[in-house]
Amino acid sequence: MDQKVSVLINDQINKEFYSAYLYLDMANFYASKGLEGFANWYQIQAKEEQDHAMLFYQYMHNNGEAVTLDAIAKPDQSYATPMDPLKAALAHEKYVTALINAIYAAAQECRDFRTVQFLDWFVKEQGEEEKNSADMITKMELFGGDAKGLYMLNSEMAARTYTAPSLTL
Ligand code: FEO
Repeated sequence: MDQKVSVLINDQINKEFYSAYLYLDMANFYASKGLEGFANWYQIQAKEEQDHAMLFYQYMHNNGEAVTLDAIAKPDQSYATPMDPLKAALAHEKYVTALINAIYAAAQECRDFRTVQFLDWFVKEQGEEEKNSADMITKMELFGGDAKGLYMLNSEMAARTYTAPSLTL
C-alpha cells in the first residue's frame, strides 16, 4: 500500500475511536439531564463509530499493513442545552466526511482502486450520518421547544436499536 494512504487509514482508526468517545460524552450529557432516549441514541452512535474503527483496522490487517494505535484525545466540548450536542455532532460528521474524502483522493491519486472501492461504503455512510444529524437538528427546532415535544423526541430516540454495519471484510 502507498505510504501516504497507509498513514491516513491508520490515523482514521484513531479518529473513529475519538468519534466513539465524543458520542459517548454526548450520551453522558443527555443522561445527566434525564434524557435517556437521547443518551441511548448516542450510545448506539458510539458503538457504530467503534465498528468504523474496526473496519479500517481489519482492512489494514487484510492488506498486510502494520497498525499503530495512538492515544485517543479527550472529548473537550461542553454542552448547555439539548440542542448543543446535535449541532456539534453535525459539525463533527462534516469533518469526518472531509477526512474520508482526503483518503479517497489519496488512494485515487496512486491508483489504489482496492482502497477506493473499500472507501465507497464510507462515502455513502457519511451521507447518511450527515443526514441523520441534520434531521435531528430540524426535529429539535420544530418540536423541542416545549416539555411535551422534548418528551416525544426523547421517546423516539429511545427506540433506536443497534445494528451491525452492512460492510464486512
Ligand atoms: Fe465514523 Fe460518524 O462516522
